[in-house]
Amino acid sequence: MQLHINQNRKKMREIGVIFDLDGVIVDTAKYHYLAWKKLADKFGFEFTLEHNELLKGVSRKASLEILLEIGKVIISDAEKEKILVEKNTNYLALINDMTAEEILPGVLDLLSFLEKNNIKYALGSASKNAPFILKKIGLYNKFSAIVDGNHVSKAKPDPEVFLIAANRLQVKPHSCIVFEDAIAGIEAANAADMISIGVGDGDVLKNANYTVNSLTELEISYMEKLLSEVNNHEARPRGIR
Ligand code: BG6
Ligand code: MG
Repeated sequence: MQLHINQNRKKMREIGVIFDLDGVIVDTAKYHYLAWKKLADKFGFEFTLEHNELLKGVSRKASLEILLEIGKVIISDAEKEKILVEKNTNYLALINDMTAEEILPGVLDLLSFLEKNNIKYALGSASKNAPFILKKIGLYNKFSAIVDGNHVSKAKPDPEVFLIAANRLQVKPHSCIVFEDAIAGIEAANAADMISIGVGDGDVLKNANYTVNSLTELEISYMEKLLSEVNNHEARPRGIR
């Protein structure tokens, strides 16, 4: 995807692109899985890859609640706090060796396409480890704004993370495109009045405006169509979700 878009960009309004991190830029779900599984093993119940699907896009705290429910484990709030720290220690040990080689196919081409066409992009992730991961893979300085789990009070599917990102890009929400791999993230993008692109299984991400299996599918003609659609996307009247 090396070409510039054909349309006269002067006629286009300011467009912003927001990326989720886990599952869109890097495949960290496998590390989250191993870190949670270590805890499940300690509690003595089975935590499967299928279970792990339920945690995608979900905050660390909410993920723990889901995990405990799967294992039918009841613990105190103080114990939960300790477990959350333990999970993150497990996770950090696993992601410590991440390098640029783990950037998912199609990401770098898409970023360079956006840069060539002067389209600003931001990160909108639930992960509190997002800055750490972006530094590990060498993308930290590329984003005009990084909004992560440390900056929000409401987790996806609430639109807060994407609305803050749009604000930091100084682009109106309805002029933003969001790339997301999780159902909660698609709901958040839709609630923010943004164009949602599901990255993954179209049957699972059926509420997305569009879906692709991988970012490698984003040919120049696809991006042209997408940008023109955003350009014509009218803001939703206030109060309607
Ligand atoms: C999301 C992941 O991006 O971040 C979830 O999809 C994860 O699986 C969440 O629970 C929070 O991540 P972290 O790094 O703050 O524990
Ligand atoms: Mg994700």
